Amino acid sequence: MSDSFNGHGQQATSCVMVIFGASGDLTKRKLIPALCNLAKDRLLSQQFAMIGFSYDSITTEAFRAQLSKDIKEFAGEPVDAKLWDWLLERIYYVQGDFQDAAAYERLKQQIAAAEKAHSTQGNRFYYLAVSPKFFAPVAKQLSQAGLTQEQDGKWARIIVEKPFGRDLDSAQRLNRELKQILNEPQIYRIDHYLGKETVQNLMVFRFANSIAEPLWNRNFIDSVQITAAETVGVEHRGGYYETAGALRDMVPNHLFQLLSLTAMEPPISFDADAVRDKQAEILHAVQPLTSEEVLTRAVRGQYGEGIAGGEKGPDYRRETGISPASNTETYAALKLHVDTWRWAGVPFYLRTGKRLARRTTEIAIQFRRSPIILFQKTRIADLQTNRLVIHIQPDEGISLRFGAKVPGPIMRLGLVNMEFDYARDFGHSHSTGYERLLYDCMIGDATLFQRADMVEAGWKVIQPVLDLWKALPVQQFPNYAAGSWGPAEADELLARDGRAWRIIEEEHTLPEPSAVPVALGRATAGAH
Ligand code: BG6
Repeated sequence: MSDSFNGHGQQATSCVMVIFGASGDLTKRKLIPALCNLAKDRLLSQQFAMIGFSYDSITTEAFRAQLSKDIKEFAGEPVDAKLWDWLLERIYYVQGDFQDAAAYERLKQQIAAAEKAHSTQGNRFYYLAVSPKFFAPVAKQLSQAGLTQEQDGKWARIIVEKPFGRDLDSAQRLNRELKQILNEPQIYRIDHYLGKETVQNLMVFRFANSIAEPLWNRNFIDSVQITAAETVGVEHRGGYYETAGALRDMVPNHLFQLLSLTAMEPPISFDADAVRDKQAEILHAVQPLTSEEVLTRAVRGQYGEGIAGGEKGPDYRRETGISPASNTETYAALKLHVDTWRWAGVPFYLRTGKRLARRTTEIAIQFRRSPIILFQKTRIADLQTNRLVIHIQPDEGISLRFGAKVPGPIMRLGLVNMEFDYARDFGHSHSTGYERLLYDCMIGDATLFQRADMVEAGWKVIQPVLDLWKALPVQQFPNYAAGSWGPAEADELLARDGRAWRIIEEEHTLPEPSAVPVALGRATAGAH
């Protein structure tokens, strides 16, 4: 049984890590700094080696020199010179085409040499930081070269990056292709959201605190809002994004991870399958929208020009690599229902978009109003409710809003927050978010990786939206200004239910004492 949520602090198993696409951004920005952090925390095995594999024609020496430059820029804090030398001397490079069998023979030889030099005991994992079209071909080549076999207690695993398919069909096909070559426990489908501390803390918050669970259901919760807002636009990823769009890019993976961790039943253990069974259950319980419901419960948007995150930018259609008539959405909002006993009737509102007013990812749990006997002369709209916000990024923490009497002779209600702030309470972390995921793969704990059925369940939910949006191109794009909170239709989606999106800035503003005047009604609890 895995003890990953109890914190084991043991060194990872000896192994060779191979990064496919090693000359790309992910390696220098995330993976190498993450390996440094693991080494610093003594979580990386002494018997470890890393091999970069990519098309670029460079030598191991040149690769090491480049990484030495990059680490200064991306480590977040200066890396100890001795530690860096230690890591560097176990890094190698193999040049090759992902489809060329001869390159895999060279890789095989390099793996054997590294295994000998660093006594890595025959364990390997392959990180596929490559374009999705290469996921299956690379796995196939590895298998044909005899590099995925597990025997005599030696393991071989593959980490597959996103996007995992572009719809239900392609995700199913990719799962089938991979499973022809590998066993499911060898496949680690990564979702970098699960590397974020606050996301992992969701389970701890819910299941390690006895005050949370009794309130965590339809009797106390009115609705849930999940927001993943970015201020950046498509940046240099126009080619990919234009064929993906906000819904595909963020919802079936990242937002559904947040949704399933928020809504899941308590697992019977923190064993990988026990946790993932409960998450999968939720994804299966999310009701796919009918075509008519897509029209009323799904909103899409595309950004216009404007200033977001302090940067002035063009509208989406004038970004590099984007068609001037593009119909790709850069914003998506959905109203979903999770049909379980716990959540019946509680809407889950999801929104994500680029070039929005603020960079923030959060889950807001909106509790029901208290009975209004005491405050019956107060307008219902003025009676603010309790709200728990789980701040995923950039300021990681949890805050709980509640009403308090503003000091003074008149009865006035102020809103105050109780806050837990990760940086303040636990200190700043230079974690890239990949440490835990790499470590878990090395120790064989797949809890934070997606299983085939989870990926497919996610696609099943959004497939009807993809289909309808494809069939009905939008006429009025762009429909929101950069720096705003998205299209007006997204506000209407909630307004129709008598609700509104949480105003994100509000949590950081102290309430004005006179903001919410409350008129006391009869003060006897028994009065009706
Ligand atoms: C990626 C998406 O998976 O997640 C990007 O492809 C998006 O479009 C990114 O910007 C967001 O990640 P994070 O960690 O910055 O919230």
